[in-house]
Amino acid sequence: MRKIIFATQNKGKIKEVSHLLSSSGIQLISLLDFDDVPNIIENGKTFEENAKIKAKIIFDKYKIPTMSDDSGLSVDQLDGSPGVFSARYAGENATDEENNDKLLCDLKGFPEPHLAKFICSAVYYNGINFITSNGEVKGKLISSPRGKNGFGYDPLFIPNGYNVTSAELDMNEKNKISHRAIAFKKLINLIQTTENI
Ligand code: IMP
Repeated sequence: MRKIIFATQNKGKIKEVSHLLSSSGIQLISLLDFDDVPNIIENGKTFEENAKIKAKIIFDKYKIPTMSDDSGLSVDQLDGSPGVFSARYAGENATDEENNDKLLCDLKGFPEPHLAKFICSAVYYNGINFITSNGEVKGKLISSPRGKNGFGYDPLFIPNGYNVTSAELDMNEKNKISHRAIAFKKLINLIQTTENI
């Protein structure tokens, strides 16, 4: 089995990506398996830049090939915002609810539909080369939150082809269509080909 670090402490992401790796020949370890994890400042201008920053810092520290991701919401009428600021749209330590409130406030005055997409950039770094892959899910935003599952902007987002929000979808169903699943499925195939796994 080839060992790869997934540079995250987010249990939801670890579960989602581990599932994609079953019978892949890759053993996933995460930052939850280390107790001296370096502090990472995500100051890139794009999702890809941020994912590369994370992968490089973690590879340089542990010398084990590393996958990482960065993701967020891009709203057409807001010229791509909140984008890389998705997690801290309403401020440094903002809650999901505060971020959602700010988004709804910013969208007041714009006509419906509020077209948007979730974007994920997934990256692999082996100390020499980066491999990158992107995934996105298109949809629209509604004007009051619905549903209790998921996290972040899920209660406001209706994926194309559905009439429920991502927060009303069952976890397994959401993960099947998620921007992260799309990006990581492609990334894992590319890693297997490049690294002969
Ligand atoms: P990160 O990739 O963990 O840095 O995610 C950044 C932020 O994007 C999260 O805090 C959420 O606000 C938002 N986000 C990313 N993926 C999702 C998703 O699947 N649903 C809802 N919000 C998301």
